[in-house]
Amino acid sequence: MTRPEPPVGRFEPEITDADVGFFREYGFWSIERITTDEEIAWLGEVFDDLFRVRSGGLPGGYFDVARPYGEDGPVRLAQTLFPETRVPALRDTLYQRNARRIAARLLGVDATALQGWGHMILKPAGDGHETPWHQDEAYWEPGFDYQAIAAWLPLDDADAENGCLWFLPGSHRGEVRPHRHLHDDPAVHALVTDPGDVSGAVCVPVRAGGASFHHPRTLHHAGPNHSSRRRRAYATELQTPPVPRAVAVERPWIDEGKAAYAARQPAR
Ligand code: NI
Repeated sequence: MTRPEPPVGRFEPEITDADVGFFREYGFWSIERITTDEEIAWLGEVFDDLFRVRSGGLPGGYFDVARPYGEDGPVRLAQTLFPETRVPALRDTLYQRNARRIAARLLGVDATALQGWGHMILKPAGDGHETPWHQDEAYWEPGFDYQAIAAWLPLDDADAENGCLWFLPGSHRGEVRPHRHLHDDPAVHALVTDPGDVSGAVCVPVRAGGASFHHPRTLHHAGPNHSSRRRRAYATELQTPPVPRAVAVERPWIDEGKAAYAARQPAR
């Protein structure tokens, strides 16, 4: 069983105006180190504990975002949502403190204004599924405006071979594009959009202990994992409280997904 608390560590990376300018220009940014090796080891143990129990959907365990809810079979792209609700000590890590401080700086808001929630993603070795092109905001309730940023912390060295992230620079300035569910099946959690011309996409490898940050509208994807190394990642969404929109936007894929999820839950 994993130790209940993260190791005590001190590390406070410095963020420059040039870093902030890069993020605002391109919609993503990365840092070589955000936490200690000791904490990465602890987070890896927590991750492995959480991925021992499979559930058909959300919440309560991990599920495969590339398969219909509840479908069995080898895991190809697994996710667990809100791990902090089961392991509260995840909220009190060096990673979280640094991510919050960096997010506040990149967004230009006060760190105390930021709320955070996480998800952990496993792209297994050998036959890990690609993460299709998407914008994170496409997953969110369409009745709100968001001011948010994602921190993405790999727990294993992530590169093009095992599925690190690719970003389309400047795409964060656009609207949320139309998305659909992977395989055109609303019971599949993963969303996909047509990204248009991606010849300018940038591959952002990050070693374990480093992190990348991206805007919720930045188009991004990750390749499949045909390597012999699994790729575990802990992503944290940091946001100010969402503000109800005066005019609702249409994101029909969200309702389609909710209906498909509800239809597959056992009757109570
Ligand atoms: Ni994403």
